[in-house]
Amino acid sequence: MIIDMHSHFFPEHIPDLEKQFGEPNWPWIKHVEPGKAMLMYGKQEFRPVYSACWDVDVRIGEMDRDGIDVQLFCATPVMFAYMRKAEHALECARIFNDNALEMAARSKGRMRALCQVPLQDTDAACRELSRSMKAGHVGVQIGNHVGDRDLDDEGIIAFLQHCANENAAVLVHPWDMFGGERTSKHMMGWTVSMPAETQLSIVAMILGGAFDRLPKNLRICFAHGGGSFAFLLGRLENAWHNRDIARGKSEHPPSHYCDRFAVDSAVFDDRALRLLVEVMGEDRVMLGSDYPFPLGELSIGKLVRESKFLDSGAKQKILGDNAAAFFNLKG
Ligand code: CO
Repeated sequence: MIIDMHSHFFPEHIPDLEKQFGEPNWPWIKHVEPGKAMLMYGKQEFRPVYSACWDVDVRIGEMDRDGIDVQLFCATPVMFAYMRKAEHALECARIFNDNALEMAARSKGRMRALCQVPLQDTDAACRELSRSMKAGHVGVQIGNHVGDRDLDDEGIIAFLQHCANENAAVLVHPWDMFGGERTSKHMMGWTVSMPAETQLSIVAMILGGAFDRLPKNLRICFAHGGGSFAFLLGRLENAWHNRDIARGKSEHPPSHYCDRFAVDSAVFDDRALRLLVEVMGEDRVMLGSDYPFPLGELSIGKLVRESKFLDSGAKQKILGDNAAAFFNLKG
């Protein structure tokens, strides 16, 4: 079974959230011509998308073209609404979670959904996670931070503990990127800030003592190959050993925790994939495309399938076996 575990959707139609919540600048979708739309953020154009975002038949056609059996999909991070009122973010999560299950049902088992939760409110997030897992989601996608709160925040650790209790796999996706004006040009927010955001989250979990506190059965995965983490693990390790203030609360050196999380394969370069597999191990890298966005892998699975260094056993693990186990998917 070939599984793509990182892709996104946006429903064809959603309620007018600005009107519903009486607050401006909610995302919505503007259909511009058949099969093409613009994701909007209030009056601002956010990203052009095509029908694969909402049309199950288009998606399955493209999965067949690329030899993908099952695709996991989740919201576009712009829908997290973590900085909004919790009750609005919860209602937004419900709308998207229910829509995702309807799409999954139409796909006859080819598409499986990850839910979203109002992570700014731990109790509401835990309740929506439980409701979604019962309804048929296979896990949850969370943003990598809530404002200044990183993944070692007390409330977020409590939520991750709840995910472990509920046997819900977690995909951490970077969003709300730092850099401000300096990364506002040339999509540098995506090419520069996103990988650093993801690295920051993994480092925060390690040095903040989150992995020491959370149970080993928590299944947590980071998007985009874990961002800059693998390449800079040596630097982190060196700092941990040589400066006591760089150790944080972690009981062990950073490399000790690499078996506590997984990453996707979206690194777009065979040399980067080689380093990633060496650092993480071939059991903890999973095919993830970021489909159907233009910064994703446009021919899903090509990097892994055509890799010059992976043997066929490692390819099979990365292309499907690892994700089947991680997300508890039956073959
Ligand atoms: Co993505």
